[in-house]
Amino acid sequence: MKLKIRLQKFLAMAGIASRRASETLIQDGRVQVNGKVVKELGTKVDPNVDEVRVDGEICRLKIKPVYILMNKPKGVLTTVTDPFGRPTVIDLLVGIKERVFPVGRLDKDTEGLLIITNDGELSYKLTHPKHQIDKTYIAKVLGIPDEKDLRRLRNGILLEEGKTAPAKVRVLKKGKNFAVLEIIIHEGRKRQVRRMCEAIGHPVLDLKRIRVGELALRGLPPGGWRYMTEEEIRYLKNL
Ligand code: URA
Repeated sequence: MKLKIRLQKFLAMAGIASRRASETLIQDGRVQVNGKVVKELGTKVDPNVDEVRVDGEICRLKIKPVYILMNKPKGVLTTVTDPFGRPTVIDLLVGIKERVFPVGRLDKDTEGLLIITNDGELSYKLTHPKHQIDKTYIAKVLGIPDEKDLRRLRNGILLEEGKTAPAKVRVLKKGKNFAVLEIIIHEGRKRQVRRMCEAIGHPVLDLKRIRVGELALRGLPPGGWRYMTEEEIRYLKNL
């Protein structure tokens, strides 16, 4: 995303000096942008692209890390923006000024625990397959899967792009023509739980993610969000 800000604002945000004092630095010829001295106060820079130096020293924005836990409601997209103007999880974060993004993805019609942050390193770690972080889903499915169906889910199901890793599956409830399953997987393939259940002939009627690793919603209602606790952040970083 392209984002240009005034040079004096950039310097203030980088913790170099106040905005007023930064203007003086610029006017005194002590600031370079991409190797050239800039003295005009109106100059704009893109913090992701331009290299800014003061007295020859590189300046970088000090970005405050933000860690949010949301109970994503149904009908909302797990993206930062949508070209069609549909509601996104970021629209729900009223009052957050930092540029944050969701970690991984929940389908539009899936509800549940979503991590939102501006910490790219943590996001990379949480979504990288090698870390195998368990994600726990509650799936209401059509019909009642028998032992053979459950074994197939547990052993891994052949989807078009390959076999899924073994899943932990428990039946929590049997209704008249539905069942509620707890399904724990560590992969993050597109629509994975829905496709796994479809493959055994018991399509998902309702899907909720209740845990990522040991992180839980702890009473957050759909659409609600909160900052993570220090303990939760430490837990994720140490995974
Ligand atoms: N599996 C799905 O099918 N959908 C989700 O949103 C997450 C996991």
